[in-house]
Amino acid sequence: MIIDKTKFFIPEKFTPLYYTPIYEHLECKHKLRYNQLNALLFNEQFIFFESTTCQTVANAILKKPELEWSHDDVKTFQSEEETHWKWFHALNVNAESTFYKESPFHFIEVSPKQLKTWNALTRRIDYFPLFLWIIYMQEERALYYANTMIQDSQDLEPNYVSVQKKHLDDEESHSDIISKLLEILWYKKNKLIRTVNAKLFSWIILEFFLLPKRSGMKIIDQWLAEFTELKYLRSDILCHFKKLSANMDFVASLYGKDVIPNTWDRFCQLPEFKPFLNKLTEHDYELSKVSYSS
Ligand SMILES: [Fe+2]
Ligand SMILES: [Fe+2]
Repeated sequence: MIIDKTKFFIPEKFTPLYYTPIYEHLECKHKLRYNQLNALLFNEQFIFFESTTCQTVANAILKKPELEWSHDDVKTFQSEEETHWKWFHALNVNAESTFYKESPFHFIEVSPKQLKTWNALTRRIDYFPLFLWIIYMQEERALYYANTMIQDSQDLEPNYVSVQKKHLDDEESHSDIISKLLEILWYKKNKLIRTVNAKLFSWIILEFFLLPKRSGMKIIDQWLAEFTELKYLRSDILCHFKKLSANMDFVASLYGKDVIPNTWDRFCQLPEFKPFLNKLTEHDYELSKVSYSS
């Protein structure tokens, strides 16, 4: 696989800096490299979910005899996700081999302790069914990303588009099986479990999967190391990144009704998710809690 580095790897609207006033003043070469670095993280996120969360949740479900009706579908889901993360990893290795000599994660930083905690929670799917929602939402996002990249394929690197096409073919069935599992593991739970899980869901998404913080700033630092003439922009970028939770175009690009329409419909019917939807739409996410390294 030879990656064409003269092309954007993902649509510009999938990258955070695009939503700041800084972006339009950048030269093409700066935008191109920023895009390509973001695409590596974009793939790492798929790898993270599909090689950890999806696998652990699937294993937990396969241990439940009462969910035996789902086991064939869950095994298919599990083996497809195991195949997918390797496609994304192969793209990253071919694009930037030096970053991925030891681990599939270069920009995502997960310590062994954090990973152990994450896996311990995802394994206990009876107590923490929020992870089914996280998977359900990620499945929808994956479909949106794949469809958008296919639509924009003329402007994008062809290997990146072709992996997304392959991904789309498999992913379409995944939401159905997760949806059936939610019927048992969410809708039949009591109010307390659902409320606590919805709060934890909201915290995880807002803390780790909304603003460009840890991994987003690692990308900026890599990019600025490659274009030292832009180093003076770092503090401005930090400033703009902190404000992105109030930028409705940016928030919608990640969790808008166009991106996750089914998740939105379902959350609107579930009172326990009202605070999460409010935080997304009323941008009342507490900025004081945002921590950035400088
Ligand atoms: Fe997948
Ligand atoms: Fe999937």
